[in-house]
Amino acid sequence: MTTFNIFNVIAAFLFTLFTSGVAALPIENYLQKRDVFVPPILYPHADTVWFSGQTHNVTWDTSDAPVNITNKVGTVAFGFSGIETPLILANGFDILDGRVEVIVPEVFTRDDYFLILFGDSGNFSPNFTINGVAE
Ligand SMILES: *[C@@H]1O[C@H](CO)[C@@H](O)[C@H](O)[C@H]1NC(C)=O
Ligand SMILES: *[C@@H]1O[C@H](CO)[C@@H](O)[C@H](O)[C@H]1NC(C)=O
Ligand SMILES: *[C@@H]1O[C@H](CO)[C@@H](O)[C@H](O)[C@H]1NC(C)=O
Repeated sequence: MTTFNIFNVIAAFLFTLFTSGVAALPIENYLQKRDVFVPPILYPHADTVWFSGQTHNVTWDTSDAPVNITNKVGTVAFGFSGIETPLILANGFDILDGRVEVIVPEVFTRDDYFLILFGDSGNFSPNFTINGVAE
């Protein structure tokens, strides 16, 4: 009786993929044509104080943007105390816009909120303050 082992199947599949060159070609093309772009967040910065309910432009530096970017669609995520939350403040915008309007969420007052700008990969803002509901 033949023993079915999923790990052997996966190993065989990966071996076929790498030896056939099927995987190598697209990866090479991808590296030639696309560049990873991780734009630094300019605002909010460490001295920023926002109030819940306000609208602000989050801004970032697009001056080093390569011609071909892997993922041009941006997302602004939200975190505090070093922990990223599932809260998304903005998404679906062009990472080359250099700014996107967000509404400051209703949160407790803290001085260690931060944003993460995603396109190709995440880029963190410094910790900043939101004055919200008194804790
Ligand atoms: C950008 O992509 C286009 C089309 O894929 C390609 O022709 C061009 O050489 C690329 N430019 C750079 C700088 O990688
Ligand atoms: C965000 O920037 C845009 C373009 O400069 C401007 O029209 C808009 O009023 C700004 N929003 C805020 C909240 O400052
Ligand atoms: C932001 O605040 C957290 C704790 O609240 C801290 O662990 C982290 O080091 C701070 N980050 C920076 C860049 O200061």
